[in-house]
Amino acid sequence: MTKEFKVPMSQPAFDTETQEYMFDVIKSGWWSQGKITELFEKNLSEYFPSNVVAVNNGTSAITAALMAHGIKNGDKVVVPDYTFIATSSAAKIIGAEVLVADVNPKTLNVKPESIEQLVKQHDVKAVIVVPMAGLPVDLDPIIELSKRYEFVLIEDAAQAIGSEYKNKKIGSFDHTTTFSFTAAKIITTVEGGCVSTGDKNIYEKLRQIRNFGRAGDGQYIHRLNSVNFRFNDIHAALGIKQLEKINEFIKRRIEIANRYEKNIKNLTFQVVPEYTTTHSHMLFFAFAKDNQMKEKYLNFLRQNGIDARLPYHPIHRQPCNSELADSNCPGADEIFEKALTLPIYNNMTLDECDLVIDYCNQVEEK
Ligand SMILES: Cc1ncc(COP(=O)(O)O)c(C=O)c1O
Repeated sequence: MTKEFKVPMSQPAFDTETQEYMFDVIKSGWWSQGKITELFEKNLSEYFPSNVVAVNNGTSAITAALMAHGIKNGDKVVVPDYTFIATSSAAKIIGAEVLVADVNPKTLNVKPESIEQLVKQHDVKAVIVVPMAGLPVDLDPIIELSKRYEFVLIEDAAQAIGSEYKNKKIGSFDHTTTFSFTAAKIITTVEGGCVSTGDKNIYEKLRQIRNFGRAGDGQYIHRLNSVNFRFNDIHAALGIKQLEKINEFIKRRIEIANRYEKNIKNLTFQVVPEYTTTHSHMLFFAFAKDNQMKEKYLNFLRQNGIDARLPYHPIHRQPCNSELADSNCPGADEIFEKALTLPIYNNMTLDECDLVIDYCNQVEEK
């Protein structure tokens, strides 16, 4: 197995201006959450637009969002069966009972009819949807369900900053939406995240939840039970500079994704429905015809220095979710059977992309 990959799964893009700006913040002596975090929040709130609270990571963002909406011990929360583990663990860590909705194996996103089946049968307090790999979820039918069945809709858009549904940015809708800024994301602050919401009361609550439930500045008055989800100014400086380049980053990702789709011969790809204005391509999923062939691609690519990855197991198959083991989610199972991810990142060159394409096209000749 090659240790040093010729083409990594992801790598961060940064420049001298970013380094200097971060160093200015370090030299200022104010490192913890302060004015630079406020500026990052202001810039994000103009970008979506929405009301934005920065937090220390994307998992905290989901946890804080659930807490702000009053989700508590014993409440039922629906999550898609195909997502990164944080979507379910954020709900479980506050004592909620997780139920899984199946996903469409072509888009990787949750099926509204699977949500409806669950909310008809159970007293569901919240539903979390996830735009997988950056592909927007079909929000209209789910917003309609949230009104009809009176559940809280939360969007875990950890992978989808910059994506647009029907000409509107993810994060600019009324429902509360969460983001992650880890190293492989569209924009990174190393670790970090944020919550956007159209609801001013939820926004005010989130600001307290982030800081031990503390009511205001200066006094140790804690109105809510909470912990520490705070951000910091050094990482906010990085975030400000990353956000300035987000359009450039997404443009390159779209270029890479289009090139893969046009030139890789024997794999299929995530289907992008009509309602999608922008798919930010945080991840790039490709599908082999069956599990055996998927393994063949993964082994060959990795042996040749291409950091292709085996993606997530379905939520109901995770050892930590043994109570969900009997769930029936054939869509999620099909994804795991056939999917691998290919490298994609903000500064990926076309030569790197072509190398991946070339190795992919050699697999079925073997
Ligand atoms: C869908 C999804 N939700 C939540 C998270 C958690 O974000 P973080 O790692 O910043 O806690 C991730 C991160 O990888 C993610 O992909």
